[in-house]
Parts: sequence; structure tokens; C-alpha cells
Amino acid sequence: MRRKVIAGNWKMNMLPNETIQFIEDLAPLVKDTEHEVILCVPYTDLFYALLTAQNTNIKIGAQNMHFAESGAYTGEVSGKMLKSINVEYVIIGHSERRQYFNETDETVNKKVKAAFENGLKPIVCVGETLEQREAGKVEEIITNQTKLALEGLTNEQVENTIIAYEPIWAIGTGKTATKEDANDAVKAIRKKIAEIYGQNVADGVIIQYGGSVKSSNASELFSMSDIDGALVGGASLKVDEFQKIIKFEQ
Ligand code: PGA
Repeated sequence: MRRKVIAGNWKMNMLPNETIQFIEDLAPLVKDTEHEVILCVPYTDLFYALLTAQNTNIKIGAQNMHFAESGAYTGEVSGKMLKSINVEYVIIGHSERRQYFNETDETVNKKVKAAFENGLKPIVCVGETLEQREAGKVEEIITNQTKLALEGLTNEQVENTIIAYEPIWAIGTGKTATKEDANDAVKAIRKKIAEIYGQNVADGVIIQYGGSVKSSNASELFSMSDIDGALVGGASLKVDEFQKIIKFEQ
């Protein structure tokens, strides 16, 4: 059985002192969970988060990285830099980066490869817009994004990639996909991975749902056959709400 992975995506929120407090408060509440807990924090919080999360079961991720190792890319942070301070995960291709920062399927693929080259585990986001959903193109869009993001990876790398299916219309809007729609989309992604990399690889890949996940809808989403956890935005900013999502069975 696949594990459940619950990752918080803080986006551009939280200062170092808030980060330390958050992790100190969260750690004892989730110390016995069998699920994997990740917090993807702003660059300026990473170091504090890593120090505070030492000796806890909370893992730390970044929210983006550049695909080059170093060079004249003012303002960018590389996978090598993230790895040097022991960051474990990195979100790649979040829809906000695709929308506002010209992230493309091509740069997403380069970043995923660079993440693995530097020993980081990518959380790759895919998802359709409302227009694409209304035009009946969900499966086409998300399976194509998945295929392009993973292009050129080894089977082992694909198995170690986390995919987050995040319908763009559900992000930060309070609108959640129905559990059936979310599960169908996740299944379509898994089927595409099976076509390219084989059923064994596809059966092992963690595929999360993201988009207005909160404590009141987590357990129904996580009860579905193919949804292996969530990438949580807004609801990951409050310790109580986030720990309830992690402890969704209770
Ligand atoms: P949300 O964001 O939970 O606030 O909808 C999810 C995400 O963007 O990863």
C-alpha cells in the first residue's frame, strides 16, 4: 500500500520566528503519525525550519529552484544550494509559478531533472484551468503535463517523484474538486505513468490532490483509491487545521 504524504505549501507567508513557533507547536501533535509530513516554506525560512524540525518527523521542502547549478541568474536559488543545507523536497511547477513566472513544461522538466541530480525529491504540480475542465480536456491536459514533466527520468526517479494534481480553479478559492473528480484525475495520471514506465512504477508513485484541502474534506478525499495525500496551501498556515488534516482518521 502507498503511504499518505501531506505537504504544506506556505507560499509567500510566514517569517522565521513564526516558522520556529509553528514547527515547535506542530511537532508534538504529529509525532506518532504514520503519514509523511512535509512543510514547503519560503527560502528565508528554510534554515530555521530545518533546525527546528531536527529530531522530529517533519520534513522540509522548498517551493521552487533554478535548474542550473550556479551562474549569472540574479535572484535565483539552485538545487545544489538547497541540498547544501539539507532540504529534502522541492515543489516544482506550481500553477502560480506557471501563471505568474512563465514556468513551462520545459522548465518544469529541467528543474525535475536538476532536483534529482542534486538529491532532492520533487513534488511536481499539474492541473487544468476552469476553461479546460469545461471543454472536457482535463485528462488530456494533466496527462500531457505529467508526461512532459517526467520526460527523460529513470523508472527509479519517477517512483521517487511526488505528483500533486491541483486543479487551478480549486486553488485558494474554497472550491474543492469532488472526491470522485479528483480521484478520476489522479487515476488518469497514474494510467499515463503506467503506459510510459510500467504498472509497477505507476503503482508506487505518490499522487496527491491539492486545492482547498481542509480538515473538513481531507478524510473523504483521502478515502479514495488513488489519492495519496494532499498539497495544502491556506490550511497549512494554521497548526490546528494542518494537524487535523494529518490526523484525518481521528
Ligand atoms: P490551497 O492551495 O490549499 O490554498 O487551495 C493549494 C496549493 O496551491 O498548493
